[in-house]
Amino acid sequence: MTEKMRAMVLTGHGGFDKYSWRTDWPRPEPGPGEVRIRVHACGLNNTDVNTRLGWYAPEVRDATSAEPYDAEIEAGSWSGVDPFPRIQGADICGVVEAVGPGADSALLGRRVLVDDWVRDPAAPDDLEKARFVGSELDGGFADYVVVPAANAVPVESPLSDAELATFPCSGATAEGMLSRAGVREGQWVLVTGASGGVGNFLVQLARRRGARVVALASPDKHEMLGELGAEVCLPRSPRDLAGALRARIGQPVVDVVADVVGGAIFPTLLSVIRRGGAYVTSGAIAGPVVELDLRTLYLHDLTLHGSTVTSAENFRNLVSYIERGEVRPTLAATWPLEELVAAQKAFLAKKHVGKIVVTMVPEATERHG
Ligand SMILES: NC(=O)c1ccc[n+]([C@@H]2O[C@H](COP(=O)([O-])OP(=O)(O)OC[C@H]3O[C@@H](n4cnc5c(N)ncnc54)[C@H](OP(=O)(O)O)[C@@H]3O)[C@@H](O)[C@H]2O)c1
Repeated sequence: MTEKMRAMVLTGHGGFDKYSWRTDWPRPEPGPGEVRIRVHACGLNNTDVNTRLGWYAPEVRDATSAEPYDAEIEAGSWSGVDPFPRIQGADICGVVEAVGPGADSALLGRRVLVDDWVRDPAAPDDLEKARFVGSELDGGFADYVVVPAANAVPVESPLSDAELATFPCSGATAEGMLSRAGVREGQWVLVTGASGGVGNFLVQLARRRGARVVALASPDKHEMLGELGAEVCLPRSPRDLAGALRARIGQPVVDVVADVVGGAIFPTLLSVIRRGGAYVTSGAIAGPVVELDLRTLYLHDLTLHGSTVTSAENFRNLVSYIERGEVRPTLAATWPLEELVAAQKAFLAKKHVGKIVVTMVPEATERHG
C-alpha cells in the first residue's frame, strides 16, 4: 500500500485557491540513484508566486503581483510546459531517510540541503537539460521529497533547519550571478532588491569576495543591510542615482550591477556602470520588459549577463561557505506547512528582510549543538 503524506499541491494558474492542502498525497519512492528526504523546512521564493500566477508567460508584461493576471495564459511556467499538479518549494532542508537502488547509503540519516538544479548525469553542463526542483519536479512543500542523490548535499552546521532553508535557491542564485559577472576584490557592486531573498545574499557574497556593496532597498531595511555588509544604502529608486553614488562613494559609476528588480529603473542602472563593466540579472520583480538604449550598451562597452542555471560546483561552494560561517541566514519568519498561503501573503507584502520559511517538524527552528 502506498504511504501517504501531507502536501500543498498547486493545481493550476490563478489565485491562492489553486493551492490544495492534502493529507493523502502519495509519498514518493526513490528510484535508482535517488534519495527520499524527510523535509524539515522549506523556504519561499518568487518562482512559487510566478508559476502560480502564470507570470512566465510571454504575454504577461507586468511586475510580479499579488493578484492573478488578466492575460489569457497558455503556458505560464518557466519551462513553457505547465506542470500541474505540482508540489512547489525550492529551498529544502531535511534528513535523508531512504535511498534507492545504487544511491550512496552513506547519505542515510544525514542532514542535507537540496541543490535545485537536476542535471543530466551524462551532460551536466548542458543547460537545456537542467530541471528545477519545485518547478519541473516536485519540491519541498510536503513532508517528503525525492531527488537524485547527487542533489542531496550534506551540511554540517549549528544552524537550525529553518535557517538552513534560507540558502539553497537564493544563495545559489546570488553566487551564480556574482561568478557570471566575474565580481572580484575591490570592485563596487550595486545590488537591487538588496533586502530580498537573493539580494541579501548578493550583499553578503559580494562582500565575501572582497567587493564593496551599494544596496538599493526600502529605507527601513537599511540598518539590517549595513549589518550584512552593505557599505552604502540607497532607496529603491533614487531620483539621481549617479549623483547619489558620487556623493557616497566618490564616483558616479560602479563596476557591476547585480539586478533582480528590473522594470522602470533598468535604464538608470545601465547608465551607472563604468566603461567595460557588467550588468547581471536573475529576476525582474518590478517588470520583465525594460527599455534598453543600445548606445549605452555599446558606447560604454558593457556586458549583459542572464543567470539562472547554476553548476553543481556553485552549490557545493555555497554549502562550504555556510559550513565555515562565511554567509549567514536571514530568517524573517516561519510558518507551519499547512499555513503556506498565509506565509505567501506575508512574503508578497515585502515587509521583511531575507527569507520566509515553512516548517514540517516542530524542531525545525532549533539550533543544533
Ligand atoms: N533566475 C533565478 O534562478 C532566480 C532565483 C531566485 C529569484 N529569482 C527572481 O529574482 C527576483 C527577486 O527574487 P527574491 O527572491 O530576491 O525576491 P524578494 O525576496 O521578494 O525580494 C525582492 C525585493 O525587491 C524589492 N523590490 C523593488 N521593487 C519591487 C517591486 N516593484 N515589487 C516588489 N519588490 C520590489 C523589495 O525590497 P524593498 O522593499 O526593500 O525595495 C523586495 O524585498 C524575482 O523576480 C525572482 O523571481 C530568480
